Amino acid sequence: MTADPARAPARGQWWSVVPLADLPPGSRRVVRAGQFTVGVFNLNGRIVAILDLCPHERVPICGGRIDGTTLPSSYGTFDWSREGEILSCPWHGWEFDLVSGACLVHPGKRLRHFPVRVEDSVIYVQA
Ligand code: FES
Repeated sequence: MTADPARAPARGQWWSVVPLADLPPGSRRVVRAGQFTVGVFNLNGRIVAILDLCPHERVPICGGRIDGTTLPSSYGTFDWSREGEILSCPWHGWEFDLVSGACLVHPGKRLRHFPVRVEDSVIYVQA
């Protein structure tokens, strides 16, 4: 039986994935970290890393549009927020919060995050 990559525990090994200078705010890179394909995102200075796998149909997600979303608001108004922090899956458009990993349309689904650290201007991912 093989491990489910969306649920497998972190392996504990840190991988050097990209120089910080190559990931300016608002950009992303899809990299290898051990056995995983990982999307690394710079959300205006906050670095996050997620498994490149949509929890809906288990296909690559990291090439999706990054945008914001509308917040709950009163009738007839649309409050746009979270600009640059919401990833839309390119396959069916489910929206995910890149910070928390939560799916905005299906609360039981979420992205898998990996621990990240920056050392000597290099981004490392634990996978
Ligand atoms: S595969 Fe991502 S929303 Fe369907």
